[in-house]
Amino acid sequence: MNWYTTKDVNTKYIFPVALVVVFLILGGVYFIQSKTPEIVAVVVTPETATTTQPSTVSTTPSGYTSAEVAAHATRTSCWTSINGNVYDVAAWISKHPGGVDAILSLCGKDGTAAFSGQHGGQKRPETELAGFKIGVLTK
Ligand code: HEM
Repeated sequence: MNWYTTKDVNTKYIFPVALVVVFLILGGVYFIQSKTPEIVAVVVTPETATTTQPSTVSTTPSGYTSAEVAAHATRTSCWTSINGNVYDVAAWISKHPGGVDAILSLCGKDGTAAFSGQHGGQKRPETELAGFKIGVLTK
C-alpha cells in the first residue's frame, strides 16, 4: 500500500494533525481572552462616563440663594424663584402669551406673588413653568 492512501494517512498523521489543531484552538482561545478586556474597556469606558455624569448631576440637588437669582436679572439671563424653586425663564420671555414685560418683571426676583396672582391654579402655566426649573431656593 502506498504512503498516501487514506488508511495510511489516517494512521500516521491523525495524531500530529489533531495535536496541531488542539494547539491552534488553545492559542485562539488564549488570544481572544487576552484581547477581550481591551475591547470591553474601549466600549465600556465612554458608556460608564456618560452614565456616571448625569447621575452625579441629578443626585446633587442644585440649590441657589436669592443673591444668585438676583445675579440673573436681564433679558438674556433671567432667573426667578417661585414657591421655593428656581427657574431659568430667559427662553420663555419672547414666547409668553401674556407678553414679554410680564416675564421681564420677574427676572432676578421672587415671582411667587406675581405668578400666583395671575396663574394660580391654572394647568398650562404651571406645566410650562415646571419645564424651566433649574433647582431649589436655599435662602
Ligand atoms: C414664568 C412665569 C410664567 C409662566 C410660565 C406663564 C405662562 C403662561 C401661559 C402658558 C399662558 C397661556 C395660558 C393659556 O392660554 O392657557 C400665559 C398667559 C398669560 N400670562 Fe403668563 N406666565 C408667567 C408669568 C406671568 C406673569 C407674572 C403675568 C402677569 C404679571 C402673566 C400674565 C399672563 C397673561 C395676562 C396671560 C393671558 C394672555 C392672553 O391669553 O391673552 N404671566 N402665561
